[in-house]
Amino acid sequence: MEPELTYHQAMNLLEWQFELGVDEVIGEAPVNRYDLPATSPAFREISPGSGNTSRGAGPGTSDTAPNAGPKVDPAREAHGIAAEIDSLDSLREAVAAFPYCELRRGARKTVFADGNPEARVMVIGEAPGRDEDFHGKPFVGRAGQLLDLMFEAIGMHREETDRDRALYITNILPWRPPRNRDPKPEEMGMMLPFVHRHIELAEPEILILMGNISCQALLGRRGITRLRGNWTDVLGHPALPMFHPAYLLRNPRAKREAWADLLTLRSRLEAS
Ligand code: URA
Repeated sequence: MEPELTYHQAMNLLEWQFELGVDEVIGEAPVNRYDLPATSPAFREISPGSGNTSRGAGPGTSDTAPNAGPKVDPAREAHGIAAEIDSLDSLREAVAAFPYCELRRGARKTVFADGNPEARVMVIGEAPGRDEDFHGKPFVGRAGQLLDLMFEAIGMHREETDRDRALYITNILPWRPPRNRDPKPEEMGMMLPFVHRHIELAEPEILILMGNISCQALLGRRGITRLRGNWTDVLGHPALPMFHPAYLLRNPRAKREAWADLLTLRSRLEAS
């Protein structure tokens, strides 16, 4: 019997082939496409929880969301789950197992966090891209390399064991949105309780909000050009919005402001 593909799996396979350079599809025998049955048994759209995990978010995960029955409010579910969690390891597991976000089915890996959880500074980005989805770590692609260089310039690094100079890095969403589209408000809404719990458990002294999506999710505001460089508060933690490194790659002239923000961060760390 033909294996069943979900919409997201089919889209990901197509995207993967496209990345490999496939730009034409040629079969060995001609097919009369006017003569095919209206729906193919090998393809069906499924909703969360129908149990197909052949690609979604890596090995060791299972989809358990009920398919029928009372309608679930994913944000409420997430809130209830997150409230019970008392360690970062359990949070990582709970996020990876959360079945209500469609993005999970199309992702290779769940991208939870990287760096030193004891760090004084926690950086919160947007969502994994292609490289992050492949490696299972946040900020490892081109934007991530720039992020590393930016923080190295003020003596900080994600692999540092000294908490004064270490970084802890995560994202609002743990799964890659298809073709790197912006996260949808409902996707952010349902994952936000986990991000809040992540901050509470890591207890950083300072949060860096990388770009508009992070500001939208945690401050309820966009407009990074006005927000950047101005200290604000997230769950009682001082938070500094900054330009996202992907934006800096596209707009190198904005690196001046990013450097000013890094110096602001360093001064605050040195003062306390
Ligand atoms: N951009 C982000 O916001 N996060 C990543 O992990 C990678 C790119």
